[in-house]
Amino acid sequence: MTLGNGIGIQSAAHVAAAGPQVVDETRKPVNRIRIHHLRDTKVKGEHFAMLTAYDQYTAEIFDQAGIEVLLVGDSASNNVFGNETSIPVTTEELLPLCRAVARSARRALVVADLPFGSYEVSAQQAVATGVRFLKEGLAHAVKIEGTKFYAETVRAMVEAGIPVMAHIGFTPQSEHALGGYRVQGRGSDRERLIEDAVALADAGAFCVLMEMVPASVAAAVNEAVEVPTVGIGAGNATTGQVLVWQDMAGLRGGRMAKFVKQYADLRTLLAAAAVAYGEEVRSGQFPGLEHSY
Ligand code: KIV
Repeated sequence: MTLGNGIGIQSAAHVAAAGPQVVDETRKPVNRIRIHHLRDTKVKGEHFAMLTAYDQYTAEIFDQAGIEVLLVGDSASNNVFGNETSIPVTTEELLPLCRAVARSARRALVVADLPFGSYEVSAQQAVATGVRFLKEGLAHAVKIEGTKFYAETVRAMVEAGIPVMAHIGFTPQSEHALGGYRVQGRGSDRERLIEDAVALADAGAFCVLMEMVPASVAAAVNEAVEVPTVGIGAGNATTGQVLVWQDMAGLRGGRMAKFVKQYADLRTLLAAAAVAYGEEVRSGQFPGLEHSY
């Protein structure tokens, strides 16, 4: 499988201009996606893809499929750890997942979510947690949720050398404060959302992610900031798009949000494989001679 070429990372000119390469003795060197590549993508009017990943194999597969950004999301809470929301997941739970993803992705930029409670208390707390995700989790950047009131936090983190993606609009960690899963930025809230994006970008955020925002509002935010934007349920004017991988590949069951497009039906595929395996074991058909020593 060849790597995707969404932002021209493998062109000869780009290779010459790029920084240090990730070298694997068994495979060709691959240039790491950097935050400036995402900005170039916006300048060129192109798009990049982002998916969540929480483990070695998905990270490897998505990386080799050319996905430019992998998010070790706090959505691991309700997609890996069995919680109902993203709120209970902790730094200690996310760090090993982040390490696995970062070790397995040779090209993608790996962004780690700072979990609820790990950055809200003070800018110092945010810097300390961000440092852990870069140092122990091997992430290349972190994401925090919040409005313009987090601008000083973002500034402190960026000054400490931590690239920050700002998540605005519907912010799942504030689900209870926001009154549930609701589209944000409608009506008079539109200006507030634009102000949030501008303040966070001015504070040094390298990217603004918008969740569940009307497409026209997301387009206005994208116009208002120079940095690239990412959308999830925010229309198609943003520079990038992100989905939770279990939604994108149809592994999760139950009701899907309107913004989810399923590109596969892994749940059915996996269930059929498990049923077939169970039947063959019970009937004595597996393991046959070909799988025995
Ligand atoms: O944790 C996550 O998966 C996210 C996406 C919804 C953007 O924050």
